[in-house]
This record gives sequence, structure tokens and C-alpha cells, in this order.
Amino acid sequence: MEPFKPEKKSAGGKGTKVIGVASGKGGVGKSSVAALLAQALAASGGRVGLLDADITGPSAPRLMGVESFRAGAEDEKLVPVVAEGGVKVMSINFLMEEESTPVIWRGPLLSQAVKQFMDDTAWGDLDWLVIDLPPGTGDVMLTALQSFRFDGLVFVATPQDFVSMIVAKTVHMAAQTGTRSLGVVVNMGSMVCPKCGEEFPLFSDDGADRLGLPILARLPWLAPIAQGRNLLRSGLPERVVKASDDLASAVKGVLAAVEAGPGTGLDVPVREAGRNSDA
Ligand SMILES: Nc1ncnc2c1ncn2[C@@H]1O[C@H](COP(=O)(O)OP(=O)(O)O)[C@@H](O)[C@H]1O
Ligand SMILES: [Mg+2]
Repeated sequence: MEPFKPEKKSAGGKGTKVIGVASGKGGVGKSSVAALLAQALAASGGRVGLLDADITGPSAPRLMGVESFRAGAEDEKLVPVVAEGGVKVMSINFLMEEESTPVIWRGPLLSQAVKQFMDDTAWGDLDWLVIDLPPGTGDVMLTALQSFRFDGLVFVATPQDFVSMIVAKTVHMAAQTGTRSLGVVVNMGSMVCPKCGEEFPLFSDDGADRLGLPILARLPWLAPIAQGRNLLRSGLPERVVKASDDLASAVKGVLAAVEAGPGTGLDVPVREAGRNSDA
């Protein structure tokens, strides 16, 4: 079998840092974290795009409060919708007549759609492109990892995912396609007392260390995130805004350490592209 040699395109323009948000499975908070991270990067002065690459489970428009908008087209490119706070959002839902219209496509078509979103969106100049990737190790995820250059992936996982090692599968898949994993956000492993505001863990050991990746943030279960309504910073309590800002700082910190090269005290595994058994 030929070794897998990725020839990857940039999903953003030159100088755009592309951060993929990934998970082992659905429902763990990937889209919520992607939306919060994108807004935090924008609030720190960056020009930010948020691409919803979870074609069958798109949620970026709703989380960013722009679900009633539709994408424009200009010079055969898709024009993203600008959300409050300046984040440019692109999602398949902007192309649907109704938000509830399902995308009933098979793998190859889904992969094609994601490629098209990456290639054919008029983002303009961006400092950051945050991509809400599909969960797990399916077809679309493989296409995204094989076709596009990411500066790094941020994994979102719940404590149960570390026990079942489901998130490890996606981390290994990323490594096999030569994609760097920056670290993990441990989501919903603790709660905050509604009376006193104190945070307490729900698990004696959340197991996140087992993954061998830096822990970028531990995000408690927080009622404002659970509402399922939009996650615009202007409507979020200080605690959630601060958690988002801390996550953005952690991502920048790990990226800076990676760019500074080995021996800087942060050992982020970047494996060589391995053999790809699926190709
Ligand atoms: N930290 C959190 N606190 C409370 N609820 C959360 C948190 N993270 C995610 N949720 C809720 O869990 C559900 C799944 O989150 P979502 O971001 O859509 O996950 P995914 O994109 O991985 O499927 C949503 O209803 C969301 O509101
Ligand atoms: Mg999602």
C-alpha cells in the first residue's frame, strides 16, 4: 500500500489560522464550543469566520443568532452571514428554504458539499477560520482532514468519552492524516451551584489526562449553554464569556508554542502522516 501523502489546500486565505473543532461523537458540545471560541477570537480583535461543516447537523446559524438569514452569492462565491460581534458564518442551513429541511445525502455528496464550502466561500481576509467539523471518524471528516490544511484541531469531549476512548479514535485519525491536535476541552464534567456559584466536579476523575493532549479548558455544565438558544456573547453571563476568552487564550498559547518549535516546554504530538487504510 502506498503511504498516504496529503496534498492539502488552505481552507482560509493566506495568513488565516484554521482551527477545526472535532469530537468523538455528537452531542458533546462541539458546536457550542466552536461558536464561543469564534466569538472570543473576534472579541480579541481578530477577523473570524465560522464554517459549519457538520452538514447533517448544522447548528452554527442558530447558535450565532442568524438562523433567519440566507447566504448571498457574488462572483460565483457564497457570501457568509455576519453575526453580531462580527463573526462571518457559513452553513448549509443558509442555503435551505426552511431551517428544518433535512439534508438527505449519501457520503460522497456530503463530502463534496464540505469541500465546496471550504473552496467557494468569499470569506475576505480572515485571521481565524473556526470549522465546526462533523462528529467522529466518518466520510466527511476524513475528506476534510485529507483535503485541507488545519493549523490545529481542538477536541471537545465529555468525561464519558475519555472512559470509552471514543475521542481517541478521532485524535488518531487526525494524526494519520498529518493533522495536529492542539488539545482538548473537557465539557460538562462539573457543575456550578446555582446558590453559591461554587463549581464542583461530577466525576472523581474526568480521565482527560489519558488522551495525552494539553487540556485547553474545562467547561462546566452551565444553564445558559444548555438552553439551546443562541450563544451570543452579549446575552451570556460573565462566567461563560470568561471561559470562552480563556479558551481562546489557551488555543493561542498552544499555537504559539508549536510555532516556536520543540523544546519550548509544550509537547504537542505532531505525527508524520501515517498510512491511510481507507484510501
Ligand atoms: N457546557 C455546557 N453546559 C450546558 N449544556 C451544554 C454544554 N455544552 C453543550 N451543552 C448542550 O448540549 C447539547 C449538545 O451541544 P452541541 O454544542 O450542539 O454539541 P455537538 O455539536 O457536539 O453535537 C446542546 O443542547 C447544548 O446546549
Ligand atoms: Mg454540532
